[in-house]
Amino acid sequence: MKMKTNPRFLTLVLLFLYLSFETNLCLGGDTISANQSLSGDQTIVSAGGVFVLGFFHPGKSPNYYIGMWYKQVTKQTVIWVANREKPVLDRFSSELKISDGNLVLFNESKIPIWSTNVNSTSVEAVLLDSGNLVLKQKSSSVQLLWESFHHLTDTLLPGCKFGYNKKTKKGQVLTSWKNPEDPAPGLFSIEPVPSEDSFVIRWNGSRNYWSSGAWNGRIFEFVPEMSVHEIYNFSYITSDNESYFIYSVQNTTKTVSRLTMDVSGQLKQPLWVPPKGWNVIWSFPRQQCQVYALCGPYGSCTENTLPFCSCLWGFERRSQSDWDLKDYSGGCIRKTELQCDNFNLSSSKKDKFLELHSMLLPESEKASRVDVNSATCESTCLNNCSCTAYASDSNGCLIWTGDLLDLQQLQAGDKSGRTLYVRLAASEFRSGKNSKWLIIGVAVGSASIVLLGLILFLITRRRNKMIRRRKEVDGSLTAFSYKELQKATKNFSEKLGGGGFGSVFKGILPNNTVIAVKKLENIGQGEKQFRAEVGTIGRIQHVNLVRLCGFCSQGAKKLLVYDYMSNGSLASHLFHEKNSNVLDWKTRYQIALGTARGLVYLHEKCRDCIIHCDIKPENILLDAEFCAKVADFGLAKLMGREFSRVLTSMRGTRGYLAPEWIAGVAITSKADVYSYGMMIFELVSGRRNSEQLDLNGKVSKYFPSLVTSIVVESGDVLGLLDLRLEGNAELEELEKVCKIACWCTQDDESHRPPMSQVVQMLEGNMEVHLPPIPRSFYFYDEN
Ligand SMILES: *[C@@H]1O[C@H](CO)[C@@H](O)[C@H](O)[C@H]1NC(C)=O
Ligand SMILES: *[C@@H]1O[C@H](CO)[C@@H](O)[C@H](O)[C@H]1NC(C)=O
Ligand SMILES: *[C@@H]1O[C@H](CO)[C@@H](O)[C@H](O)[C@H]1NC(C)=O
Ligand SMILES: *[C@@H]1O[C@H](CO)[C@@H](O)[C@H](O)[C@H]1NC(C)=O
Ligand SMILES: *[C@@H]1O[C@H](CO)[C@@H](O)[C@H](O)[C@H]1NC(C)=O
Ligand SMILES: *[C@@H]1O[C@H](CO)[C@@H](O)[C@H](O)[C@H]1NC(C)=O
Ligand SMILES: *[C@@H]1O[C@H](CO)[C@@H](O)[C@H](O)[C@H]1NC(C)=O
Ligand SMILES: *[C@@H]1O[C@H](CO)[C@@H](O)[C@H](O)[C@H]1NC(C)=O
Ligand SMILES: *[C@@H]1O[C@H](CO)[C@@H](O)[C@H](O)[C@H]1NC(C)=O
Repeated sequence: MKMKTNPRFLTLVLLFLYLSFETNLCLGGDTISANQSLSGDQTIVSAGGVFVLGFFHPGKSPNYYIGMWYKQVTKQTVIWVANREKPVLDRFSSELKISDGNLVLFNESKIPIWSTNVNSTSVEAVLLDSGNLVLKQKSSSVQLLWESFHHLTDTLLPGCKFGYNKKTKKGQVLTSWKNPEDPAPGLFSIEPVPSEDSFVIRWNGSRNYWSSGAWNGRIFEFVPEMSVHEIYNFSYITSDNESYFIYSVQNTTKTVSRLTMDVSGQLKQPLWVPPKGWNVIWSFPRQQCQVYALCGPYGSCTENTLPFCSCLWGFERRSQSDWDLKDYSGGCIRKTELQCDNFNLSSSKKDKFLELHSMLLPESEKASRVDVNSATCESTCLNNCSCTAYASDSNGCLIWTGDLLDLQQLQAGDKSGRTLYVRLAASEFRSGKNSKWLIIGVAVGSASIVLLGLILFLITRRRNKMIRRRKEVDGSLTAFSYKELQKATKNFSEKLGGGGFGSVFKGILPNNTVIAVKKLENIGQGEKQFRAEVGTIGRIQHVNLVRLCGFCSQGAKKLLVYDYMSNGSLASHLFHEKNSNVLDWKTRYQIALGTARGLVYLHEKCRDCIIHCDIKPENILLDAEFCAKVADFGLAKLMGREFSRVLTSMRGTRGYLAPEWIAGVAITSKADVYSYGMMIFELVSGRRNSEQLDLNGKVSKYFPSLVTSIVVESGDVLGLLDLRLEGNAELEELEKVCKIACWCTQDDESHRPPMSQVVQMLEGNMEVHLPPIPRSFYFYDEN
């Protein structure tokens, strides 16, 4: 728009200013009484200035809703919505007012679209500091005719009862928004199960995919995290009339927190930490991919990658705009229709099957077991037009009909992974086109090869000069060009691992050195700062740290080059493939010690203390001799703000993050000590601490709390050991390691030992006392 002052435009602006000034004047206070109405940008504010009620529009949506949000929280966070499913477009001609003894929302054509529906007389609506919007008789201060606390949307505030009314046999429900820009009810909800004193999270009102476990007097059984935070007081109250969960925060003015059924399908507890923003204290289920059918039909969920959802090969996103809003529920659709019903086709044109490895199979209730041997499984599926996929095992053949839901891609070699064959149109497999292009390519290629050679020669000569110059700048680090790394990794074809910061690929340099190349994503650093940080990381060298040997920085392309570790990550040995060589106890002990020594170096011996921030079995690599090497250190500074965003969005409290991380206070090296302790539990058990629900839905105890109780009661520590070791371990060492892990995972960081002490204990130079049970693991046992 041209910025010439147009008199008519000016008048409009003035008129607008006048109007908004005028309308803002009309209302104030915390009450909508009989003669008042709320419209446009008007709001009411609770008496203590905690909550605001008014029209809002979520994100880029043009739709307006009546909602409630925090006054103090700078980022508008809506915690309650009146007209979830019936938005208005023009907030200035819509009104919220008292009408016929109700609080009613009228749309642009003065049609009521939302009402409290109690039909009383002389009422008024008051917004309370608790976040409760109440409708009551004008003179009365006690009897509430209606309250928003009884009509929850997706958020539970402190002080609000959440449960089941035994008289009306009705339970309350928190239902997620459809997506961050649409408050209409989404697919995920949490509801009480009064008979079990527990809560379940459901998909589409039917399929349960998470349970809190029963209330045991202090906490819900599967939520040991509940006892970590001193700022909350959780209770579950049962009487003749009702049973409900309620929580409070110790200082409501200081602590702003809520429980929200998030659009991600996880129940989250965010805490407001100014000025950083909302910090999610915990999420359930702990793993994003444990949310049922998160990625919709034919979508596949992969933990530890962003985004979590992707379409199977041969499928495309049903709605790109939904996916952009992180609403994956629409899933994916076929690029090419199946040919099944067309019996005239020659066999080469019949549907074929795509082989998918390491999949967690879709719900087995949706599959039927067919009594044929695995060899004829494929033809059984092919000959049944409603069959969309099959899997076969030693027990026979499973076939799926209808859309495939809840697919999960596990890491290569994961124990629970299976191979799934998904039906696709034959044309998806055809390679004819490609080979034609190849021929043309070759022809053109050979014609221009002489020219190319000349150009390449010139470029290489110039580049070599540049590299030589750059090498001097960056000390021992080699600066690679993107092309060189592309070539070394065969165009990034052999992926070693992935993560929030980027994927890692195997590569071979022209001099036959094997390298691991990490492609950084979303890096927020400028060129100069990036080089400075990389230079710092390059100078950190220790036998228990993975050496950075080079990097590439070409515009937005930022890559790090590391020594290749031939035995992969600790995670791949602990959690994958039952039969591949199991790490014996001696090796595990050496890995615990090596990792501790690497961390001591980072924490205490470097010029600047480096906090790793992301210690987990994926980041402990093993060289040819199974010597442990800590990988990925220094990334916190390199990635800048992106680092903590990725950490919290990827893992929340899943497993390794110390409580102080999540509470938003300053992080010290003791946060690494905590993560190290959590990792040691996994080193002992050979399974993930987060693995609570096994596949049959049978529930085992949270491993860290099991260890602590056994250690403290001098119970059978050998029973804690990875079953694959068949009891082969030094009992004394095992006891010591368990005790150390308990010390490392104390809630209070001052109770955790520094890593140098951990090394001394492991080396046998320091006695390990009996640890107190970390509060967060403490399990109330009724018998
Ligand atoms: C509402 O308006 C009527 C008429 O204008 C007036 O008599 C009455 O006192 C008003 N009520 C309130 C609560 O302001
Ligand atoms: C107001 O709501 C009614 C009933 O839902 C609807 O028919 C009408 O189109 C709405 N008016 C506008 C302007 O959207
Ligand atoms: C209130 O009145 C409306 C319209 O007369 C009616 O449809 C509704 O059922 C009434 N609600 C109650 C709770 O009485
Ligand atoms: C959810 O359930 C309803 C019936 O209860 C069904 O019509 C709908 O298709 C389901 N939604 C999805 C995404 O499957
Ligand atoms: C926690 O909340 C319950 C129920 O509201 C209350 O009875 C109890 O006194 C509270 N405890 C603390 C320590 O505030
Ligand atoms: C239960 O409800 C009855 C009336 O429905 C009431 O008299 C009684 O006080 C209630 N009990 C409790 C514990 O609230
Ligand atoms: C709550 O925190 C605020 C701000 O820190 C403080 O001023 C107030 O005294 C605290 N109230 C209580 C009851 O501790
Ligand atoms: C299959 O072939 C038969 C006979 O040639 C023909 O009548 C029929 O239309 C064909 N069906 C399809 C689906 O092409
Ligand atoms: C296809 O398989 C399903 C599941 O086993 C079965 O219910 C259905 O009858 C089969 N259809 C045909 C045509 O065989």
